[in-house]
Amino acid sequence: MNAAIRAIVRTGVEAGFEAFGVRDGFEGLMDGRFVQLGARDVGGIIQSAGTFLCSARAPEFTTDAGQQRALDALARRGLDALVVIGGNGSLAGAHALHSRGLPVVGVASTIDNDVHGADIAVGVDTALNVALEAIDRLRATASSHRRAMLVEVMGRSSGYLALMAGIAGGAEVIVIPEIDTGPDDVAADIRQMYERGKNHAIIVVAEGARSASVLADRLANADVGFALRTTTLGHVQRGGTPTVFDRLLGTRLGAAAVDQCKRGASGVLVGQQRGEIVTTPLREVVTTPRALDPTLLQLARVLAR
Ligand code: F6P
Repeated sequence: MNAAIRAIVRTGVEAGFEAFGVRDGFEGLMDGRFVQLGARDVGGIIQSAGTFLCSARAPEFTTDAGQQRALDALARRGLDALVVIGGNGSLAGAHALHSRGLPVVGVASTIDNDVHGADIAVGVDTALNVALEAIDRLRATASSHRRAMLVEVMGRSSGYLALMAGIAGGAEVIVIPEIDTGPDDVAADIRQMYERGKNHAIIVVAEGARSASVLADRLANADVGFALRTTTLGHVQRGGTPTVFDRLLGTRLGAAAVDQCKRGASGVLVGQQRGEIVTTPLREVVTTPRALDPTLLQLARVLAR
């Protein structure tokens, strides 16, 4: 996110705009927490994960009154356009403000990678690499002690992180919210790996599918062959050093968002699709669910043999 903010400020200033950051996401927008940003103010942030402007969950922003408060705060400060960086919730907020007449451009940034209009959102690559490094490290104990390791990764309603980290980490079993997988199914899969002669197993579980520790309790009495251990990665995945890919993606999308503002566009998401930066109407973004590629899950199963 910091790479995107840096690019928005610097390309915006270059284009003749004055740039203001909004502290604390929509919560800060409603309260008018604006801070003017020049090129120097966004120096030294590209290598840091998260956002130096801070963010917040803001339930009030889903209400008419909350959105009106935000519009009033923007008008008081004389701000003409808004760039919103975030996931589906943030982009729904962006669409709401656009519908109320404010020029708004969206940039997809969520480790869940579940935004329609963006093949890959800002932050996904870094989070995947963090999860992958953890899986690789856990494999040392798994193989040395002949254990099955359950690793819970983030993904409230999306199995993208679990699926991709699972494939890249060579997981034996991947549990995602998109596919109903019960404890008995997981037990049978682990048992099958044991019977095939594997000396350990890695089971990647998306938090939105089920809690890995609850799953481990349910598996405790099943005869899966291996002893079980559980690790929950949680917010660890949202830290780390942003990868080259994420820095470039955030930079390109930030610059593209300013370009859209320059053209007077509103109500669009800038996103990367097939390597190109393209725009998608926010109305379409917020009404179209993003499905996982089912062939990848099938591939993961074959690769686990
Ligand atoms: O939506 C992105 C995400 O990282 C989800 O994967 C996760 O469930 C959620 O945010 C965590 O939210 P919070 O930081 O509010 O606990």
